[in-house]
Amino acid sequence: MTTVVKLGGSVITDKERDETLDGRALDRAADHIADASTDDLVVVHGGGSFGHPHADEHGVSTTDGTQDADGALAIHGAMTTLNRFVVERLRERDVPALPVHPLSAAARADAARLSLPTDQVSTMLGEGFVPVLHGDVVAHEGKGVTVLSGDEIVTHVGKAIGADRIGVCSTVPGVLDADGDVIPRIDAFGDVADALGGSDATDVSGGMAGKVRELLALDRPASVFDLDGLDAFLAGERPGTTIE
Ligand code: IPE
Repeated sequence: MTTVVKLGGSVITDKERDETLDGRALDRAADHIADASTDDLVVVHGGGSFGHPHADEHGVSTTDGTQDADGALAIHGAMTTLNRFVVERLRERDVPALPVHPLSAAARADAARLSLPTDQVSTMLGEGFVPVLHGDVVAHEGKGVTVLSGDEIVTHVGKAIGADRIGVCSTVPGVLDADGDVIPRIDAFGDVADALGGSDATDVSGGMAGKVRELLALDRPASVFDLDGLDAFLAGERPGTTIE
């Protein structure tokens, strides 16, 4: 059983303060991962207050790029700093976590064509490691670098390695309807378009609407839940919203 789980950037960082970790939330997530008995686990994390403010400052999103190396490095540097924190907290709990940095391997030929090799991820899994990938900037033909979001990584890697279970841990307990209630199941974007507003803090990759679109395009079910649902998801349940 192979599981890919994304820790949302707003879950593990303080979105109100630049480059600030939400240490308690990250500890909770790391505890759940350490306690889980999933055989093959890939962790992906987002940018939160590390990647997004830098991306915003340099005008970089999943579609707008920069050819400025300093800008690219500022975004990438913030993301590798956050990645180091995530790997460290997992290592403190004896999770055999190893970092995988998308900028070193991925490229976009255009908006629809992403090359992201996953041999290292599969081989790490085979050797008993837990690869930890992160949203990043990646080279993008004709645009310099653009943002590759954690959600795109989840779907791409999930498909490429044939993951059985895919989960996105967010700050909300699922995709919420206009009344703030969790929508148990989504199978078409049109059904929820009205309920999905923009994200409340700086988010260069589309907030919940972008997440739902991304997960609907996947050829297998995915779950969106919050930190309270993470242990249930890792135990094989389907907390929050199932998108398929
Ligand atoms: C964004 O990744 C990464 C960068 C800004 C470089 P995500 O879009 O997956 O991040 P979160 O989870 O929304 O914070």
